[in-house]
Amino acid sequence: MSTVLTDEKIPNNVNLAGDKRLQRALEAWQPKFIDWWKDMGPVGWQERDIYLRTAISVEANGWAHFDYVKMPDYRWGIFLEPKDPNRVHGFGDFQGQPVWDEVPGEFRNMLRRLVVTQGDTEPASVEQQRNLGATAPSLYDLRNLFQVNVEEGRHLWAMVYLLHTYFGRDGREEAEELLQRRSGDSDKPRILGAFNEPTSHWLSFFMFTMFTDRDGKYQLAALAESGFDPLARTCRFMLTEEAHHMFVGETGVQRVVKRACELMKTGDVRAQGGIDLPTIQKYLNLWYSLSLDLFGGEVSSNAADAFAAGLKGRYKEDRYEEHKLIGSHFRMEVLEEGRVIEKDIAMRNALNEVLRTEYIKDCQRGVDRWNKTIREEGIDFELRLPDHKFHRQIGMWSNNRFAPSGEMLDDAQWNARKGDWLPNDQDEGFIKSLMQPVYEPGKMASWIAPPAKGINALPAEFEYVRL
Ligand SMILES: [Fe+2]
Ligand SMILES: [Fe+2]
Repeated sequence: MSTVLTDEKIPNNVNLAGDKRLQRALEAWQPKFIDWWKDMGPVGWQERDIYLRTAISVEANGWAHFDYVKMPDYRWGIFLEPKDPNRVHGFGDFQGQPVWDEVPGEFRNMLRRLVVTQGDTEPASVEQQRNLGATAPSLYDLRNLFQVNVEEGRHLWAMVYLLHTYFGRDGREEAEELLQRRSGDSDKPRILGAFNEPTSHWLSFFMFTMFTDRDGKYQLAALAESGFDPLARTCRFMLTEEAHHMFVGETGVQRVVKRACELMKTGDVRAQGGIDLPTIQKYLNLWYSLSLDLFGGEVSSNAADAFAAGLKGRYKEDRYEEHKLIGSHFRMEVLEEGRVIEKDIAMRNALNEVLRTEYIKDCQRGVDRWNKTIREEGIDFELRLPDHKFHRQIGMWSNNRFAPSGEMLDDAQWNARKGDWLPNDQDEGFIKSLMQPVYEPGKMASWIAPPAKGINALPAEFEYVRL
């Protein structure tokens, strides 16, 4: 089961060769995926040798193989964590019963929606980032961008495998549609809002991988608890790859912050080609608030249903003592008669907010590390996560205006201040003006500090992309 046949057309550890029908269906999807990659994947660079890691198994030490590869030749494969034959439902109405290896009919639609929604984010982010190769601040960063891109492609493969294997004809149709929607397209947009926002420069890319990929981590972790075992096993391995994406985001922003601090000591940051800390704060506000929306409504019967059915759990369900959540409550802020109050909400209905709360703590740990860099540079400034009610487009806060402090504002107050809190056209124009490519090994753009170390124990000045 866990042997990997890398000489197969589609590398996999699911014994694809043992299911000819499935193998044929996926081999028919593969050229369409490659067409999509060539159409909507990274612009340029497709014929270059990129130093990339490829998943070749799920063994904890040794799953990744590093080498130069041209992106269209990347070996996108299907890897699931090995099956635990004794695994039981860890939560919900079926707690303690054996997990499912097939889709239960009564939950088919709910499960398909979960898989499709997750699957849609993967190609969406590749589309959002497709032009960034023209303006990379270094070869190291260029390589990291492409690493994230090819792995999001593999995550699409992971979800398409589930659709083809377990959902019959409608699964195959959904797999086609995953290649047809387009990020930001008004006729056939991607499913979730943040995945239709342009990621038009590298500061947004780093914020995206910090905050939006981190939403992915929490969604995958909740699905990794699933009582539909193939979904759980798929998501567990995706999380292994996802960690690097958040590393790219967190250390990317950290390096921009460090550079800003260095430049503050010698004059005006912007005049010296850096990105000033207040502007970094605005992009933090933007991408954090967009990413909070991805967790869905604060009080949600969909979340309750998915938990009850054993399809989507909490973050690290094992940490909790009680897994049925009947009769328990979650204390949270809600909007009632135009006022923000704290209230106990039935736990199952509050699960989106429970997951969002875990996510917020994780984001705060990253921001704390950025602030540590600022302190170490001897600068008196603190980056902050805005209140969770700030700038929301989904859920109960979306019809009101809130300051980053959480204070409720009227429209006039909001309009007077929003340019201080979110990037305006001038900020966007300035950042774009800085985005000049630097493609000499080891050299960095003016607005970012070098990385602390290179990839795969190689030096930072390694030729990560062969020119
Ligand atoms: Fe992903
Ligand atoms: Fe990711």
